Amino acid sequence: MAPHPWTLLALPLVVLLLASVSPPGADAWGKEGHIMVCKIAENYLSEKAAAAVQDLLPPSAGGELSTVCPWADQARWHYHWSSPLHYANTPEVCGFKYSRDCHNSRGQQGMCVVGAINNYTDQLYSYGHSKSSYNLTESLMFLAHFVGDVHQPLHVGYEEDEGGNTIMLHWYRRKENLHHVWDVSIIDTAIKDFYNKSMDNMVETLKMNLTDGWSDDISHWENCANKRATCANDYAIESIHLSCNYAYKDVEQNITLGDDYFFSRYPVVQKRLAQAGIRLALILNRIFDGDETDIKPVQIQ
Ligand SMILES: *[C@@H]1O[C@H](CO)[C@@H](O)[C@H](O)[C@H]1NC(C)=O
Ligand SMILES: *[C@@H]1O[C@H](CO)[C@@H](O)[C@H](O)[C@H]1NC(C)=O
Ligand SMILES: *[C@@H]1O[C@H](CO)[C@@H](O)[C@H](O)[C@H]1NC(C)=O
Ligand SMILES: *[C@@H]1O[C@H](CO)[C@@H](O)[C@H](O)[C@H]1NC(C)=O
Ligand SMILES: *[C@@H]1O[C@H](CO)[C@@H](O)[C@H](O)[C@H]1NC(C)=O
Repeated sequence: MAPHPWTLLALPLVVLLLASVSPPGADAWGKEGHIMVCKIAENYLSEKAAAAVQDLLPPSAGGELSTVCPWADQARWHYHWSSPLHYANTPEVCGFKYSRDCHNSRGQQGMCVVGAINNYTDQLYSYGHSKSSYNLTESLMFLAHFVGDVHQPLHVGYEEDEGGNTIMLHWYRRKENLHHVWDVSIIDTAIKDFYNKSMDNMVETLKMNLTDGWSDDISHWENCANKRATCANDYAIESIHLSCNYAYKDVEQNITLGDDYFFSRYPVVQKRLAQAGIRLALILNRIFDGDETDIKPVQIQ
């Protein structure tokens, strides 16, 4: 078994140190965000999908998808090519266009979080059919991570400020950047203030919300509005809108963010974590349930 995530919270100093050595742009939903997304997803897997996931998970996962969901953030240290796959940037516009925005710094098309979700989804479709030339364990670990990332609004943000990484500010008393506030700090503050420092308590509440307050929204979350592109494309469009309307809104260099910002943005974070979990399960169920006729994601035109 991997160490219980709670131990991370018991070692705030270590967490702080780790956070402070991360280079700008290297963050994703913090470990906790990714673990929560995957814990929610695990709850909604079909029997076949759960079995395939068990089969693909590395032994170190102890049978739990959530333990490998932060993996891609470590992998970027040795798979340098994977760094741009965690996000997409727009030229300071509140809209995402695959052909314009999905590329790495060398202009290679598809090298962004949307292209990556499509890529690893396609790879996993070969599970159980042919001998894949890809390592499907890695495909699964990448996919689970990137579905989380595309739901973090600032992973689809402005190029100019690197998705909020160059916007320095104070989160209450602490010096941080805006990107980190959304990856980590809003979640940490909620866990500390509302959930008795337990991430699992927060996950339980999100799971309860899914059967209660959000139950009518789930079928809507599962639809993709744009039939000509993939769902990942739609998730990116949602994120850039949330970036404009919530993350960047009323924020400037050196501002101090506190209760007003926290209480108005926290509901967005809760919903994005839950949506990411539901949608990850949906994608995995479609892949592994085997009925391939009308369920394969349509490719971006
Ligand atoms: C697709 O996956 C392969 C294998 O991990 C990787 O080499 C390639 O860069 C990926 N491309 C995208 C767009 O994710
Ligand atoms: C697949 O990837 C995992 C994680 O990187 C690694 O531990 C495993 O050895 C790889 N399997 C093969 C057959 O290369
Ligand atoms: C909070 O957590 C501590 C330690 O895990 C526990 O002793 C305490 O009873 C909890 N309080 C509440 C209100 O759940
Ligand atoms: C989620 O559940 C908590 C605890 O029951 C509740 O306070 C909150 O309003 C719920 N949120 C939604 C969006 O239903
Ligand atoms: C940033 O804000 C603090 C007070 O919140 C102020 O003391 C400091 O001079 C400001 N720095 C810049 C570069 O504006």
